[in-house]
This record gives sequence, structure tokens and C-alpha cells, in this order.
Amino acid sequence: PRPGWSVDADVVVVGSGVAGLTVALRCAAAGAAVTVVTKARLDDGSTRWAQGGIAAALGDGDTPEQHLDDTLVAGAGLCSDEAVRALVTEGPDAVRRLIATGALFDTDSDTGEILLTREGGHHRRRIAHAGGDATGAEISRALVEAVRDAGIKTVENALVLDLLKDSEGRAAGVTLHVMGEGCHDGVGAVRAKAVVLATGGMGQVFSATTNPAVSTGDGVALALRAGAEVSDLEFVQFHPTVLWLGPDAEGQQPLVSEAVRGEGAHLVDADGHRFMVGAHELAELAPRDIVAKGITRRMQELGAEHMYLDARHFGAEMWAHRFPTILAACRAHGIDPVTEPIPVAPAAHYASGGVRTDLHGRTTLPGLYACGEVACTGVHGANRLASNSLLEGLVFAERIAADIAADDSAAPGEATVADRPVTPLLAPEARFAIQRIMTTGAGVLRSAKSLERAAADLDALLSQAVTTLETDGKTAEPGTESWEATNLLLVARVLVAAALRREETRGCHWREDFPDRADSTWRRHLLVTLRPDRT
Ligand code: SIN
Repeated sequence: PRPGWSVDADVVVVGSGVAGLTVALRCAAAGAAVTVVTKARLDDGSTRWAQGGIAAALGDGDTPEQHLDDTLVAGAGLCSDEAVRALVTEGPDAVRRLIATGALFDTDSDTGEILLTREGGHHRRRIAHAGGDATGAEISRALVEAVRDAGIKTVENALVLDLLKDSEGRAAGVTLHVMGEGCHDGVGAVRAKAVVLATGGMGQVFSATTNPAVSTGDGVALALRAGAEVSDLEFVQFHPTVLWLGPDAEGQQPLVSEAVRGEGAHLVDADGHRFMVGAHELAELAPRDIVAKGITRRMQELGAEHMYLDARHFGAEMWAHRFPTILAACRAHGIDPVTEPIPVAPAAHYASGGVRTDLHGRTTLPGLYACGEVACTGVHGANRLASNSLLEGLVFAERIAADIAADDSAAPGEATVADRPVTPLLAPEARFAIQRIMTTGAGVLRSAKSLERAAADLDALLSQAVTTLETDGKTAEPGTESWEATNLLLVARVLVAAALRREETRGCHWREDFPDRADSTWRRHLLVTLRPDRT
């Protein structure tokens, strides 16, 4: 559809989590006119749900070098050393600037120092937290407030449709479908010299995920349609300890933070056996991929649907004070962690891959940046280290803002919707079919057989939509839910193709038929660009 309205900005930021709002604040502070557009409300993304915290070498005796070592080990040979070095060296000051922006972290009441906890893969206490286990909610609150105080223009309920480009192929803005925002209602455009994608992840591609309903891979799908390069989509991280609510539980599931293990909880089977002890030198605090695999293996051995996280020894007071969010979520589902072990199982949590960027957040399309979970900066490799994601959002947001401020190239020429693959819109219900296909075929444990089945089933969904378009000239009604289903299908197809191609087990990509890591052939990245004439 043709835009019915258009507005101009220097920078348009798509998404309003830690990455998007930090870019917006830093660009505005440098004098740029910024517009933030977001699919739902400003605080509806994944940031708000983050529990454990934000990792940075802030403690006595800790150094960026030690943080770097832990990040590289977790990343299983595929991190970019340079990107990780930027993350860990700039991280501590970026956290201090977040605090200066207004985020209140938990501190020692005597010394005033920031309290630090541990999580999987970290050899020391390095995770700053807020409200006990409500770190993301506090960060989101502080950033939303700062954006409002700074008078930054925001447009909520704005579904991003396409990238605008000028005749040189430079990003020149985005088109949007806005529902009920007064003067910006309907399909419109924000024209800008710099476009920053900060749309978060794609956890909703699976049936059970810790991600909110809005995490539908919109940024990766837009980037693919616009011709940008995407990398490492096969590396989907499954969080080991998600509250198990039954075999048919679907949608967003309650997280039980790694910090619970960081403070001493044990993973046990139904007989109380601590199966991670002896499996890795860090036992329950091994990197996340190893713990998720340990749980899945034990479930298979016992034919069980879940394992247990036992933290009864914390006692009522510590549970209430240190983990109030998790305590409330468990109790809301009839489980009291003070008196009983918590049933847990892995669920989809984080996309380690995404839109490929350089060290300044620049994608392969000039003028288009990506930041946060939507991006693949190289800091996560094959498996993200716990609590490095909020940090990545902060550090790379600041790098992007600096790059935009230093860009003295001319404003883009006339902006038009870029050539893109023909996209038949899917009906909203297709979302559930995609989720089931992906959970069965491309979940924690994969094989050529399961992935080929998933690829065929996804292709069949696409063919149905293409046939309906060709024979009846019809496509689903355009709207947020049909675009979300369409985006999910596109990212799912690319994810499955990459997972099929990578014939090894590495980090969070676990192939039953290729159980070993194959450094001689696979210590490399899979890069994907869509051709404009292909769906
Ligand atoms: C958690 O609190 O366990 C999640 C931390 C993360 O995903 O980095």
C-alpha cells in the first residue's frame, strides 16, 4: 500500500527495548531529531522480562579480560574477538551511564556498592541486578522515562512494513502501519537518514518460549526482504530452566532465572539426583547450551517431561527478597518453591544470530543499522553467555549513536519502497502451525530427518498462500497478526535451512546425526541474503 502520510527525522529507531531506547537517547543528546516507532507499547518488548541481570566486570578483582574469556568459551569458537573485546571493555562504563540515566540497581546497604550475582558460564560474580529478579523491568522503566523527559517523538502500535531506499540503495526510512495513533493512523512513512532496527528476537517461532508475543522476527524479516545479510540463525538458545506448565503449554512461559542457580539452587531429577555434577566443571553453572543439553538428555533417559530446580534451602525470606518475581510466578501456577522443587524444562529464549553488522552496528546496507537481539554483531558466537544481551544492547547502541553522529554524508535522495520478494500475506492462524512445525523439527535436538520434514511443512504453508494469491488474487487481510505470521514463516525457513546445512553440533545447535563439533569444516558462519525475485 502507498503511504498516506509521511514525517521526517534524522534517525528512525524501530523498537523500544534497551537497544532502541539507548540509541534514541544518545542520538538525541547529540542533537539529532529522533523518532522511535514500536509495534505495541513502549515497554512491551523482551527487555521488560529480563530477570537475572546485566553482566559487566564491575566487581573487585574482576577484569574485562576474564569476562572476555568466559564469553569466548560460551560462544564455542564462533565469536568475533574484536566485538567481544568492545563489549567487555566498554561494558562497565555503559552500565554506569545507564545508572546515570536513572536505572536503580540493587546495592549493598552498608557500602552502597552494586550487588553482583553469578549465572551459567561466568567464573565469578559479575551480574548486576535490580528489584531482585526484575532487572529488565527497571531498565525499561528508567529508559522509557528518560525518553519521555527528553521529548523524543515516539509512535506506538506501529508495525514496520518495509525499508525505504533512495536511488543509490541507501536506507532512507521505513513504511509503517499504525493503528489508532491520531494523526499517524494507517499506512505511512518516516523518512530518515539513518534507520536503526532494534526489534528484538524471534522466540515466537517456537511453541514454548520465554519471549513475549511481540517477538516475531520482524526486524530480521524486514532486513531479508530489503536485501541485507543475515547470519547465524541456526543458533537459537534454549533457556534451561523455564517453569514447566504441562506438555501442551504454548506461548510465553515464565522464566526461572539462571541467577537462582547462581545463588545455589540444584538441578535434580525425580529421585533428587544432581545430574549436572560431574557432567561439567561448573555443574549447574555450566554455559547455557550445556545445561539445556544435560536436562534434555536426562529427560530422554528417564522418559520424563521435565526436571526439577530445587531451591528450598533458600528459605522463605530469601525467596521473597531476592526472587520476588519468580516466587510470584511459581505460586500463581500452584507451585511453592519454598517447600517444593520447581518443575523446569528448556524453552526457546534467544536468537544468537540476526542481521549481520560490523563493530559500529552497520548492516550490509548503507544507512541501515541493527542493534540488540535483532543483530548479529559477533559477540555471541554459537551460544550467548548469560546476561550479555542487555549489555550488548547498551554498548552497541552507544557505538551506533557515535557512528551516526560522525556521518557527514549527504541526506538520501527520494525515498521509495525497495524492490523486494513478492510476499503473500499469511492468515494469522498460520503462526500456530509454524510454531508446531518448528518445535517438532528444529527444537533443542535436531537431525537431517527432522529438519527436512520441517522445511517441507514450512514450504507447504508458503505454497498454499502463493496458490491462493495466484488463483483467487487474494491474500490475508493486512494487519499486525498477518504480518507477524508472514515474518515468522520467513525467518523459520531461513533458520531451518541454516540448521540443515550446519552438519555438526556446536553451541546451542545440537544435531543428533552429527554429534561432534567439526572445527576443520564448520568454524565459520552461514550468511544469507534473499534475492529480490524469490519469496
Ligand atoms: C536469566 O535470568 O536466566 C536470563 C539471563 C539471560 O538470558 O541472559
